[in-house]
Amino acid sequence: MYRRLLISSCTLTRCSSNRRSFFLFLSSFSYLHTMSPTAAEYVERHEIPVAEVRGRAERPRIVGPDSPESPYPIRLSGPVQKGFGRGGKDLGCPTANLPDESIGAISSVAKTGVYYGYAQVVPPQDKHSDFKLEDLKVLPMVMSLGWNPFYKNKSLTAEIHIMHDFQTDFYGYEMKAVVLGYIRPELDYVSREALIEDINVDKEVALNCLQRPEYQKYAADAYFEHSESDLKANM
Ligand SMILES: Cc1cc2nc3c(=O)[nH]c(=O)nc-3n(C[C@H](O)[C@H](O)[C@H](O)COP(=O)(O)O)c2cc1C
Repeated sequence: MYRRLLISSCTLTRCSSNRRSFFLFLSSFSYLHTMSPTAAEYVERHEIPVAEVRGRAERPRIVGPDSPESPYPIRLSGPVQKGFGRGGKDLGCPTANLPDESIGAISSVAKTGVYYGYAQVVPPQDKHSDFKLEDLKVLPMVMSLGWNPFYKNKSLTAEIHIMHDFQTDFYGYEMKAVVLGYIRPELDYVSREALIEDINVDKEVALNCLQRPEYQKYAADAYFEHSESDLKANM
């Protein structure tokens, strides 16, 4: 059922040239969002959601309600793990993986897919001087939760791309994230270029979504440890 809906939503994307099909497209996504199983349920069933797409040019550039609704915000944290490294090398989109123990907070309440929110790298005090002040701020992020169907991963991962040009690696250091909303399901693609194109749209969508005042507030969330003055004091 889920697979059929995914494919039909993608088909609608291709032919949504008039208003009615555009609304059908939107409602199929909101139906998916409310009715589909959580990531944890998929793990139990050993099912991997996959859908082929060939062209998703007409994606909306802003999604979801004007303020975060349950189950958001979802707060995640943990030391950054190394993935396969394809994000930076193949896709021009480096990602920081959360450890398996940190994923439960989202996989138990949300399905696989692409999400947006804020994240912060929190290195130990003695490593602060390796970073620029800008690196340690709360920054916009996009996150992929799932099995990366394009790469056919065997395990569920939560991979965060922080929208910032880091000059320093932060593997092993603590990362905190507040997930504020869902963008789309994870998909399989006919080419690497098609995946890159969709990831670039995800980033645009995330930045637009976070512009909304009720989302912007979370950049100052108490969950994030350092105020700007604390950060400066530690440099
Ligand atoms: C915003 C975003 C969207 C993504 N969407 C998909 C997707 O739809 N399908 C997919 O297979 N992988 C998707 N990915 C996951 C990438 O394939 C993954 O981050 C990449 O393989 C790097 O993983 P690695 O560092 O473990 O190699 C997405 C990643 C990001 C950051």
